Amino acid sequence: MDYFTTTGDASQRAVDCVIVGVYDRGLGKSAAQIDAASKGLIRKQLKSNDIPTQLGRCVVLGNVPGVRAPRVAVVGLGAADAFGKPQYQRAVQAALQAISQTSCRRILVGLTLEDAGGADVYYLARYTAQAVGEAMYRFTAMKSGKKPPVMPLARVGLTIAARGDAARTLRGARHGEAIAEGVTLARELGNLPANVCTPSYLARTAQKLARDNAKLQTTVLNETQMKRLGMHSLLSVTAGSVEPAKFIVIKYRGKARAKPVVLVGKGVTFDSGGISLKPGPAMDEMKYDMCGAAAVIATVATVARLGLPINVNVIVPTVENLPSGSATKPGDIVKSLSGQTIEILNTDAEGRLILCDALTYSRRFDPDTVIDVATLTGACVIALGHHLTGVMSNNDELAQEVLRAGIAAEDRGWHLPLGEDYADQLKSNFADFANVGGRDAGAITAGCFLGNFTGGLSWAHLDIAGTAWKSGRQKGSTGRPVPMLAEFLLARAGALP
Ligand code: BES
Ligand code: MN
Ligand code: ZN
Repeated sequence: MDYFTTTGDASQRAVDCVIVGVYDRGLGKSAAQIDAASKGLIRKQLKSNDIPTQLGRCVVLGNVPGVRAPRVAVVGLGAADAFGKPQYQRAVQAALQAISQTSCRRILVGLTLEDAGGADVYYLARYTAQAVGEAMYRFTAMKSGKKPPVMPLARVGLTIAARGDAARTLRGARHGEAIAEGVTLARELGNLPANVCTPSYLARTAQKLARDNAKLQTTVLNETQMKRLGMHSLLSVTAGSVEPAKFIVIKYRGKARAKPVVLVGKGVTFDSGGISLKPGPAMDEMKYDMCGAAAVIATVATVARLGLPINVNVIVPTVENLPSGSATKPGDIVKSLSGQTIEILNTDAEGRLILCDALTYSRRFDPDTVIDVATLTGACVIALGHHLTGVMSNNDELAQEVLRAGIAAEDRGWHLPLGEDYADQLKSNFADFANVGGRDAGAITAGCFLGNFTGGLSWAHLDIAGTAWKSGRQKGSTGRPVPMLAEFLLARAGALP
């Protein structure tokens, strides 16, 4: 996509569509330009209620007199004093959605002129580029026949108030485009069915990324190598499946002599629960149980695309969790890579069993910070719903840094506690600890389980069980928390304005 900035009048630009906004009481800045050029058409249509002003509603006007562009998309911005970053995001998403079936090749976004709660143009440009990526995404990989039309967008103009805003605006667009590519990759991997997106498929995806970018290097361990290392906790999860498990490591080198940030992603390509079999309804959604893996792979792809001056290692333990005659049984005890023993009381609490060995493995990189990302618990969905990612950490400063990144990226999390009282729920009579701690505080006890493997590390755990995908009619992967992770790393790299 070609992004450019302009200080010109929205009515005079030769593009296929201009996007402008209207508040409850009054026109946005570029809507006022369109209104002036058309001798009051926008105000007239507002008065007759032909243009809605509610946030996120949009109408597309054709051939507005005095306007060079053949289309003007007018989007509702709601109340001016409530207009902030999330409102900006919703408005620009709605406008792009409204024109996404058209044949627009060049558009001009006038919304970047609005005051979104004092947000920097960098962020408005970034959200715009992310929304462009979102509007253009269709999952068609598994559809036969004709693909539904997507607009052939090639050039996107961002209106700015002053020349001096151009550099920050274009940087925002560049970052937003790279994040959008990451989000798209994460969504695509998530949406692919489990008979296509297997552990081997994820490994091939990681290898392909490294082939395309010189700063990336991928290595993949097979089951024999994992066994030799002693990853018996991870291997216990794959015992019932014929699909070979993989342990993927992607290294991004953007800086000499700097400790890496390690991102660990849960890659259960299908979670049936194993012998502790899940109930049938909606079990298909457990193809999304590799969304943590997808997010960390996609995030490092974004970082590589931007060439950030920082080191990032990605670790993806990836398996299929199925029942069979060779599957792990409730009550089985395994020795993890750390040497600690685990009583597997429930084979459906498998994410933590693969993550613990990956977290132990991360120590060999002498990491500055370790962040794991996992669709780990249904309990997290009960606690936070589908809006916020659960954030747990053994380091309060790191937790705050992650939460701040989530706010800036509009991909929020919420801090949940860890602690001895919760960890005690994991006590076992037979092994060092059990893999489940009962129904109460299930998201937190899962975090505590992982905490047994991160002593001495600066570590945060993101439970994305509620945020990684949507169910129902809008079923599909969201690509979260790629924006949060990308923001975290952009900040670490000193790449924000
Ligand atoms: N992948 C699931 C968590 C999950 C369930 C995410 C539903 C999103 C929606 C995980 O492996 C799991 O099964 N967790 C169990 C843990 C329990 C057995 C302690 C759960 O949440 O029920
Ligand atoms: Mn499970
Ligand atoms: Zn799972």
